[in-house]
Amino acid sequence: MADRILIVEDERITAEDLEEVLKDLGYQVSGVVSSSEEAIREAQRNPPDLVLMDIRIRGEIDGAETALLLRERFDVPVVYLTAHADRDTLERAKQSRPLGYIVKPFHEAELHASVEMALYKHRHDRRSRSREQHVTNVLGTLSLGIASVDQDGTIRMMNRAAEGLTGWSMEEAIGTPVRQVFRLADAATGRDLELPLEQALQQRAVVEIRDRMLITKGGGQNLVSGNIAPLRAADGGPSGGVIMFEAGTAETEAPYPLTKVMKEFQTIEFGRFQIVAASQPMKRLLSFTLRVAKSEASTVLIEGESGTGKDLMAQFLHYSSTRRNGPFVALNCSAIPEALLESELFGREPGAYTDARSQKKGLLEVAHGGTLFLDEIGDLSPAVQAKFLRVLEQQSFRRLGGLQDITVDLRVVAATNRDLAGAVQSGTFRLDLFHRLSVIQIAPPPLRDHPEDILPLANHFVQEHNRRYKVNILGISADAAKILERYHWPGNVRELRNVIERAILLEETDQLQIGSIQFVSSRMAPQPASFGSASEQARTQSEPADLSLRNSERTLIVQALEKSGGNKTKAAALLGISRDVLRYRMKKLNLDED
Ligand SMILES: Nc1ncnc2c1ncn2[C@@H]1O[C@H](COP(=O)(O)OP(=O)(O)OP(=O)(O)O)[C@@H](O)[C@H]1O
Ligand SMILES: [Mg+2]
Repeated sequence: MADRILIVEDERITAEDLEEVLKDLGYQVSGVVSSSEEAIREAQRNPPDLVLMDIRIRGEIDGAETALLLRERFDVPVVYLTAHADRDTLERAKQSRPLGYIVKPFHEAELHASVEMALYKHRHDRRSRSREQHVTNVLGTLSLGIASVDQDGTIRMMNRAAEGLTGWSMEEAIGTPVRQVFRLADAATGRDLELPLEQALQQRAVVEIRDRMLITKGGGQNLVSGNIAPLRAADGGPSGGVIMFEAGTAETEAPYPLTKVMKEFQTIEFGRFQIVAASQPMKRLLSFTLRVAKSEASTVLIEGESGTGKDLMAQFLHYSSTRRNGPFVALNCSAIPEALLESELFGREPGAYTDARSQKKGLLEVAHGGTLFLDEIGDLSPAVQAKFLRVLEQQSFRRLGGLQDITVDLRVVAATNRDLAGAVQSGTFRLDLFHRLSVIQIAPPPLRDHPEDILPLANHFVQEHNRRYKVNILGISADAAKILERYHWPGNVRELRNVIERAILLEETDQLQIGSIQFVSSRMAPQPASFGSASEQARTQSEPADLSLRNSERTLIVQALEKSGGNKTKAAALLGISRDVLRYRMKKLNLDED
């Protein structure tokens, strides 16, 4: 959409000229007015993206004052366009912090460049302001020390608890390289240590800080433990990271007694849930999640591919937090028609719409004191996004058709397997809501990035399905283990679980053999329906003629190529492998290159 410009100019001819030039340049002229009062009224009624204004205009207040008002009250930037460039006028202009100053007569190109620069700069300022505001709101009250850092390692924001632990005030710390503020030393030897920031940012993985001395600004020492987790920006790229730390030793104890940490499978058990975490990336992710659970952070974003364990992490977050005795309420935003979603979330009063007979509590109320898990948050409609943002900011809302403000105490955990950042870029997801949600991000990695977990998970699922189907498969044969480890798991842990389930039902010996293992990418095959388990479907489906790995791989590749319309890059992405690997495999399988 063309940017909208308001012209404030009291010489009619100049104003008309200007209007024409601006339209030629592709802008929309939202109005032409000649006094400061009119300019303010217009900005209020129909805010433009930019005001082009003469500094000497008619009216009670002069151009400079008008500009200041427009900026402060309506957040509209001003570029001056004037014949006066004397010292006095310039001084006055400066005070209103304009985004440009063009002296008449001007060239069209010069006007164009100034307007573009002003629009760009204003948008950029607005973005960073809104980001800072959200970060401050979210982090301000937490008892854990939190600092967010830029990609280049400067501190962007820090909360009060972090001030206490580092001895740096927020004002001093912001803009300072994080290494100066977080000076770490070995607790035993006192030797200086590097902050493992690079590792977190470059490897895009959580790192752990364990029992380190933090040298405070005044030279004191605090024993701290914590994590650094990478963040993703709204453009999808890396946007620095979050350091979350606390005084004391590294035992990230859940306030909830984790029932068991089983040694052989390296499993964490909480209530009826079990999480396998044998690999370092998973262990660190869990330790970070425990810390997030303990913090009172009111919003958390879980972002990861389908089947990586987002639901499981959301439950883990809830059951290991102080909210565990409160409700855990889950809502899948994509599963409910838009018209119902609003009343589902906010509730309604009788008569809120034609057939609403009774009062109904919304899930926001139901989740009071606990956790609201919003799955597929990217599917919220723009209207609900706006309302929901207000809830996050004020922790209060009204039922549909209701007049009373209802206050709730919630933690909102949002999950997405879609590219939420991409949705922000394309304008379907609000940037301010993204900022609000994304201050703390938990990102379960795709299974192919932590292959050390494949066999522990597979064994875990063997036991689970043994119990479920009352069979007794003792384990996985060496050959079968090898192919499980080599597979790239585009459908992640869910796919592994399904493969093991199927294998158990097919197996005739007491160990899973290669012949029972059949890969069905969960991204390409339809999900098992919620009625009737996958196993029932497996039984009723006719058995595939050829279960060999070679054949399954061929089928998968052909499916992926069909799905991508023959585009190899896309097919490779679907399969979770590189284009080169795809070409290599196609060659091996004698699949025609064209
Ligand atoms: N680390 C793990 N340990 C044990 N089980 C796991 C682990 N990760 C995932 N699972 C299991 O894998 C299955 C898929 O996980 P989950 O439903 O949490 O994925 P998801 O990321 O929410 O997927 P989707 O994007 O499709 O909603 C579940 O049965 C879950 O219990
Ligand atoms: Mg899920």
